[in-house]
Amino acid sequence: RNSEWTGFNDLFQYEGFWYTPKFLEGLIMAQEEFPAQPNDIILCSAPKTGTTWLKALSFAIMNRACLDDTTNPLLLKTPHECIPFLEIGLFQLKTNRYQEFPLLATHIPFASLPESITSSDCKIVYICRDPKDVLVSLWHFIGNVRAKEKGHFPLEKAFDLFCQGVSLNGPYWDHVLGYWKASLEWPEKILFLKYEELKKEASFHVKRLAKFLSHPFSLDEEREGVVEKIIQLCSFQNLSNLEVNKSGQYALFASLVVENNRYFRKGEVGDWKNCLTEEMKEDLQALMAFKAASDTSSKLTMW
Ligand code: A3P
Repeated sequence: RNSEWTGFNDLFQYEGFWYTPKFLEGLIMAQEEFPAQPNDIILCSAPKTGTTWLKALSFAIMNRACLDDTTNPLLLKTPHECIPFLEIGLFQLKTNRYQEFPLLATHIPFASLPESITSSDCKIVYICRDPKDVLVSLWHFIGNVRAKEKGHFPLEKAFDLFCQGVSLNGPYWDHVLGYWKASLEWPEKILFLKYEELKKEASFHVKRLAKFLSHPFSLDEEREGVVEKIIQLCSFQNLSNLEVNKSGQYALFASLVVENNRYFRKGEVGDWKNCLTEEMKEDLQALMAFKAASDTSSKLTMW
């Protein structure tokens, strides 16, 4: 148990990772009861790595028949409502999921995924991000949802805890390396994406994602600019300016309602430069490089 990281709850360690009590409860329930189906697609990520963006893109790709409709769910609901988290919405999913198409999301690390996910033919898409930007994004997010009486959460404190591995669903490096190694072993099951690459070459990676989701773009669609339309629909600029994301709220749990705009802060690569010192940058990079190198099978360049 660690009382220092979050403002809303202590964190608890389970199978080597840190969770808030509600997430942990949902995770254990998912491990015990979630019946993955071969057609399911599970979007996996550590918090603040681009989950919201990946949800929007995947939803848009699979629902592109309604791309131009004013009733497109992405215009009216937050991406988190369009694609719920497995460990949050399991009870709700049990009753509703089969009426909808099979896209789900989770922050559960690879080693703790429900056995039905790893042993069935369902597919996994993982997104990761530069840990420096993840830390800064997380620090802002926690600061925003933190109980007022807990006071200010110093960045230095967040940094130290993050480097000790104590953060939401952390250690971050173990989260990334778990999926990275699994993606090398099962490339047909797991697609590994990086936030920075998606930003840089959106069209290439969106096509890659669509193909992996078994919804590739036809030549006609490419000619008609469908890929660009999806990128534009799911862009930070567009989503963050939608009324639902500016003023709506989403209840992660009855006890934790988060304003939708908290998921849309800056959406940039390299915002860490505005917050972290040069020393912090060096320390975090060295730590990530060390973690990746100490696992000789990983071959992952960690920023
Ligand atoms: P910043 O805090 O750096 O701005 P998650 O969805 O995993 O919680 O991650 C949230 C981070 O992704 C935030 O980063 C948020 O601004 C960014 N984000 C949200 N929507 C995005 C989009 N459509 N494109 C790019 N980044 C996005």
